[in-house]
Amino acid sequence: MEELKVQLVGFGVIGQGFAKVLLRKQNMLTEKYGLKIKVVSISDISGTAIDEKGIDLKKALKVMEEKRAIIHYPNAKEIKAIEAIESLDADVVVEATPSNIKTGEPGLSHMLKAMENGKHVVTSNKGPLALKFKELKETAEKNNVEFRFEASVGGAMPIINLARETLPGDKILAIQGILNGTTNYILTRMTKEEIPLDIVLKEAQEMGIAETDPIYDIEGIDTASKLVILANALLGINATYKDVKVEGIRRITPEAIRLAKKDNQVIKLIGEVRNSKIEVAPRLVPENHPLNVDGVLNVAMLECDIAGKITIIGKGAGAIETNSAILSDIINIWRNCR
Ligand code: HSE
Repeated sequence: MEELKVQLVGFGVIGQGFAKVLLRKQNMLTEKYGLKIKVVSISDISGTAIDEKGIDLKKALKVMEEKRAIIHYPNAKEIKAIEAIESLDADVVVEATPSNIKTGEPGLSHMLKAMENGKHVVTSNKGPLALKFKELKETAEKNNVEFRFEASVGGAMPIINLARETLPGDKILAIQGILNGTTNYILTRMTKEEIPLDIVLKEAQEMGIAETDPIYDIEGIDTASKLVILANALLGINATYKDVKVEGIRRITPEAIRLAKKDNQVIKLIGEVRNSKIEVAPRLVPENHPLNVDGVLNVAMLECDIAGKITIIGKGAGAIETNSAILSDIINIWRNCR
């Protein structure tokens, strides 16, 4: 059996989901791949829990349930994540701190530090990638480590690995889609049950699908960040968040939704990258169009030069679902390193 040592940075919705998924999948990983994923540290804003023999994930989750800070884990230290990344021995850093689109921090520094220390990076954190994709990619290459971010776009809609690993001979010409589960859930409820935006937003927050700051969802910032990641990773466009024209869903009224309905159309927050143009805006979509998916679902239509159009649908958010992407990235790193 082989062991992969993982440092988990960020122990909120996604980080705790990672611990839950590992507990659920550990036997399968051992039986199917002969792989043991050992979490050697967990950091949050309060400090770092460290155990070279492997953190007791059940205990860590219980600590969070009861005390809401990892510093209460036995013998946890007041060490910041960045110091833990620099000083502890590990193969992979899973970076799952909240997305920050102004500075990319603290995630950006965590990722760069991990790479400089020869650690592979797996992340769900969009901000640093939307601001500094090129720098992160080059730093990973320079340090000969893998940089994987399937979870950063569309939770459990595996668009990045689909394009890179299943369609390596195709050129991706354009991508169009719904890349934010929270706003899609809100628009769906507004359309089907005529419930006001702010009430449904609260529900989305309780479901754990909204961003830490839900303005990121509502104003289209989250969709824009994901589009930038796709533009860089799949279309080879060197873009940053500032290159996106963004409009969110604030101005969508119940009246506009009703009018669209009368015309057999729905209003969706659509992101599109095409010919170096990156745009997020509410758009009318015919009811029978493949982009018309409901609830927290995300959808993306890839336009490929050989394959033509391919549409992929999946859950765009959720603590457990997003960790399908994180786990697949970790397994792929392990496969590639053998
Ligand atoms: N807030 C995001 C969404 C989470 O609703 O899609 C997943 O990136």
